[in-house]
Amino acid sequence: MNWSPAAPAFSLSVTQSTEIETDLLIVPVFEADSLDDISALTAASDGHLQRAFASGEIKGRPFEWLITPVSGCKAPRLAVIGAGKRTELSTERLRRLGTAAALQARQRQISGIGWIHRTDLAAAPSVQAVVEGIGLASFSGDVYKSGERGNAPVREAIIVLRSGADPALEAALHHGRVLAESCNISRALCNAPPNELTPAVFADRAAEIGRTAGLEVEVLDEKAIAALNMGLLLGVARGSVEPPRVIVLKHTPKGAPAGPVLGLVGKGITFDTGGISIKPADGMERMKDDMAGGAAVACAMRAIADLNAPVRVIGVIPIAENMPGSRAIRPGDVLTSASGKTVEIINTDAEGRLILGDALWYARQMGATHLIDVATLTGAITIALGKIASGLFGTPATFVEHVREIAERAGDRCWPMPLFDEYAEQLKSEIADLTNSGGRPAGACTAAMFLKEFAGGLPWAHFDIAGTAWAEDAKPWQPKGPTGVAVRTLAELAFTSREWK
Ligand code: BES
Ligand code: MN
Ligand code: ZN
Repeated sequence: MNWSPAAPAFSLSVTQSTEIETDLLIVPVFEADSLDDISALTAASDGHLQRAFASGEIKGRPFEWLITPVSGCKAPRLAVIGAGKRTELSTERLRRLGTAAALQARQRQISGIGWIHRTDLAAAPSVQAVVEGIGLASFSGDVYKSGERGNAPVREAIIVLRSGADPALEAALHHGRVLAESCNISRALCNAPPNELTPAVFADRAAEIGRTAGLEVEVLDEKAIAALNMGLLLGVARGSVEPPRVIVLKHTPKGAPAGPVLGLVGKGITFDTGGISIKPADGMERMKDDMAGGAAVACAMRAIADLNAPVRVIGVIPIAENMPGSRAIRPGDVLTSASGKTVEIINTDAEGRLILGDALWYARQMGATHLIDVATLTGAITIALGKIASGLFGTPATFVEHVREIAERAGDRCWPMPLFDEYAEQLKSEIADLTNSGGRPAGACTAAMFLKEFAGGLPWAHFDIAGTAWAEDAKPWQPKGPTGVAVRTLAELAFTSREWK
């Protein structure tokens, strides 16, 4: 797919940094940094770096940036990037530094960079993190412009180690590159306008991504969906001329045990007008990314296949467009889900939980033993947590805590949210098994409670990514636009099956 450029060509090197042949050497510097171990580099700057430190131009604060010509190095230029306190360095900080550095290089039309890997953190995870970060800088959000576009991404990145480029580090580098590319494909899907990315087109793209990665792919069309009695998904799709789809992606590695089986489910609303309970016009264009959960599942499945995770994984993506056409569902309608539970529609804008209800059921039918869903589900989660963390719900606590730890490590920040039994009362219906809206109080919690009804008692975790799927403000490590949230977490979870409880 040409709309998602590959990450740069990565390599590891143990060559002396002054001998690295590249366009720009980049070295992280810390607060109160002695710089002793990089004296060969600082000397090559003709005193410029020392003066910048002495004058306070560079203090080592996170994401400070200074670029200077150097002599006596094979590279013509050297950049320092502030990395904060040495004691606070983490893989997530490294990931962000990698992105910030590669974006800076990209802005200057620099094609090759050499990253001086200056850290006391464990070698493999830190190499993986910086590769992920640099790879994430290759995403381009302006592919729909016909005129001038931003600069091309960095094409080559050398990770310069002090010692020991062993096979484990080559594997970490590969892992990082695949995860970054998978995130960028997810971002490209989220960025696609909703007239281009209709449900059928999204299904085709997800199928192509899956087949290219070697997954078993099945696309259910509206007839197959009707045959499965997925009344909730069909109900949401009724208001649109675009028919719904369900895409199923299967990873069945040779020799993997029959169980456990991870079931990943992602919300794939290609556009959410709200339906008859229509949304206000202001900001409605943002609702094109209401398929971010589905994109995350498709792209995590790609990574899982590319990296050959040693466990069975099934991805299920229910896809529809939520429109207010004349055949649209109304508040007051009662729909019957594939699981048999009936749902009274209170608000047609609470459509995500409907399509996920049927998809969670289907993932169970396909043999999933552990479920994780990802959805831009509620505005309420943004009120609770802002745009800096996804909401994490689920049961049992041991499973959810494991998922949280993996997400934290993967750089997808999330925070645990409660599922008190009392929330179920807000979903009680006079005439059906439950309603699809619990009203405003604890809106993210009641939405999660609705999903729990369809998880069938399996270990289950739910990420509400409504606040995190799209960045409204540019940061040094994150341009405005789609973030690729949850791709890395879902993929990494496929490598920790021994810890799923
Ligand atoms: N897709 C929206 C949630 C959303 C809102 C995502 C803002 C990103 C930004 C979801 O389908 C929705 O409309 N939820 C409603 C639920 C309500 C009607 C119970 C909401 O959050 O208002
Ligand atoms: Mn909605
Ligand atoms: Zn929605």
